[in-house]
Amino acid sequence: MRFLPRVLVLCLVVMILTLKLMTYYWARIPEFPVSSTENTFALSAKIPFYGNPSLIPYKEFFVPGQNTTFPLNYSFHLNGSHICKDQDPYLVIFVLSVHDQTAQREAVRRTWGSVANGNHWPGTTIMPLIKIVFLFGVHDDEILNAIIRTENEIHQDIVQANFVDSYDNLSLKVLMGFKWMTLHCTRAKFLMKTDEDSFIVLPKLLKKLESASMDNSILGVYSFSEGVANSGKNKIDKNEYPLSLFPPHCKGIMYAMPSKLAANIVTVANHFKYMRIEDVFITGVLAKAVDARHVQLEESEYYKYKTPKPCELSNGPIILSHGVNAVLMYQTWNTFQNPIMCSS
Ligand SMILES: *[C@@H]1O[C@H](CO)[C@@H](O)[C@H](O)[C@H]1NC(C)=O
Ligand SMILES: *[C@@H]1O[C@H](CO)[C@@H](O)[C@H](O)[C@H]1NC(C)=O
Ligand SMILES: *[C@@H]1O[C@H](CO)[C@@H](O)[C@H](O)[C@H]1NC(C)=O
Ligand SMILES: *[C@@H]1O[C@H](CO)[C@@H](O)[C@H](O)[C@H]1NC(C)=O
Repeated sequence: MRFLPRVLVLCLVVMILTLKLMTYYWARIPEFPVSSTENTFALSAKIPFYGNPSLIPYKEFFVPGQNTTFPLNYSFHLNGSHICKDQDPYLVIFVLSVHDQTAQREAVRRTWGSVANGNHWPGTTIMPLIKIVFLFGVHDDEILNAIIRTENEIHQDIVQANFVDSYDNLSLKVLMGFKWMTLHCTRAKFLMKTDEDSFIVLPKLLKKLESASMDNSILGVYSFSEGVANSGKNKIDKNEYPLSLFPPHCKGIMYAMPSKLAANIVTVANHFKYMRIEDVFITGVLAKAVDARHVQLEESEYYKYKTPKPCELSNGPIILSHGVNAVLMYQTWNTFQNPIMCSS
């Protein structure tokens, strides 16, 4: 009975050959059988205008003009040249503040902002180097300017430029912050802008910056297409912004971007007509001029209107909130330092 093994061997050979043939053909079947012309068409149709298509006829609005429309040539009274002198920060945080809110600034410094200069966030061991900078123009009241100077002697975290500090000049203030980066902090990796009444859960925000592709992109509370109010208290003068929709932008409560992008924005800024609406101007109009994109925070990651309870920031997904006064800031920080307060 010696033929049985031979049959078996033959069977095996046939099986192996069949398998080889099958895998050969499978490998040749493309995953998505499409004709190449179709593919090219789909690609070209897929390079769309970034933003609401009804802005397409007004594309030119987002191209820098030839003339300098408003200068960014203000000198610095407090130049903050020491802030990045010996180290390159990973993140520089501009906190927008008004002169007389000393207590609110102190709350930022002692709570979420205390991680500046290499300090750790409670419960974490490594923090990249973060710098907090409060930005100012010049106040009419010289006593308030003197307060700012004294505060800077103590904390060394203030930059003040020579323009009138007013609500109308908010965009100018932020852009002078960007300009300061290009002069005195060129090697920081990221820049963030936020307000004195915002609370930022920095470890979560840093994780976002790390996980997203931030190349030429702005991270924040995203608005793709927003109608421009032509009546009511939020009415925008056509002289300031003539279109009926805002470009994609991030809300002023908090936005972060690579410092390289901020430098590009500074370069084009004074070739545009000045807009007082800081977030739309900087993260929308100017960002569009340098073809930037946006990375959006999830709606579950921020409170836009609601004031948070202390534990809502230390437990759960919230990364940022505004409307946080000094008292609430300390209370909230306390829950980060003593997580047991929020268990159960
Ligand atoms: C730019 O400036 C030049 C010289 O001052 C002027 O002739 C021209 O009209 C300006 N262009 C625009 C678009 O304002
Ligand atoms: C800034 O530029 C404007 C216009 O280009 C000029 O009139 C002004 O004198 C400059 N200011 C300073 C401080 O250099
Ligand atoms: C910044 O200001 C300090 C103090 O006024 C001054 O000594 C220094 O030269 C300034 N640095 C630059 C780069 O302007
Ligand atoms: C800033 O704002 C004030 C008042 O809103 C205004 O008078 C001033 O011209 C603005 N610009 C500068 C560069 O200070």
